[in-house]
Amino acid sequence: MSVLDVSPVIPVVVLEEAESAVQLARALVDGGVPIIEITLRTPAALEAVRAVAAEVPDILLGVGTVVSPADVQRAVRAGAGFLVAPGTTPTLLKATGDIGIPLLPGVSTVSEVLTALEHGISELKFFPAQQCGGAPFLAALRSPLPQVRFCPTGGISAANALDYLALSNVGCVGGSWLTPTDAVRRRDFARIQALAAEAAALRRRAR
Ligand code: 3PG
Repeated sequence: MSVLDVSPVIPVVVLEEAESAVQLARALVDGGVPIIEITLRTPAALEAVRAVAAEVPDILLGVGTVVSPADVQRAVRAGAGFLVAPGTTPTLLKATGDIGIPLLPGVSTVSEVLTALEHGISELKFFPAQQCGGAPFLAALRSPLPQVRFCPTGGISAANALDYLALSNVGCVGGSWLTPTDAVRRRDFARIQALAAEAAALRRRAR
C-alpha cells in the first residue's frame, strides 16, 4: 500500500523526549492512524525512531525533515519505513534512489514536481502547502500532471484538511495538529488518541 493511502493524515511529530515515543505511537494507532512521521528536529529523534521501530510494529514509521544523505543513512539505520524531505535536491534524490523504502520529497513548484518525476517519484509532499498556493495550486496541477499524487503539509489542520482531501490528486495531508506540543509534553496520550480518531474520520467526510 502506498504511504499516501494508509490514513487521511500523516501526523508530523516533534519529540523532545524519546521516552514518549512508544506511547504516542500507540495512541495514534489506537485512534485509527497507523502512520507517523518523526522529524529529525530534536536530539531525541533517532532514539525515538528506534524505540517505535522496535515496539510498535503495527505503525508505518516515517522519518521526516531529512535534508542530507547523512540523514538518509541515519534514518534507515534507525528503522525508518519511509522518508520525508521538506524539499527536492538532486543530491537527496540520488541518496534515496536505492535504499528500498519510499521517499516523499517536498515540492512547491511545477519544476520540482518534474524533477521528482524524472527520478521516478510520483508521490510528493507539497510543502509548505498553505503558504504556496494551498488547495487551488494542487487543483491546477490535476489536468497537466494527472500521474502525480500529493501529501500537502504546512498550515493544515482539521479546519481546512477537507479542502485538500476533496481533490483527486491528494492522497492524504500531513500536519502536526494531532500531536500538539503541550499534549506531548504533558504525555496526554488520551488527547492524542482523540485527535487521531477525528483525523481518521476525515476521509469519510471528504469523499
Ligand atoms: C512539516 O514539517 O511538514 C510541517 O512542519 C508541519 O506543518 P504544520 O506544523 O503546519 O502542520
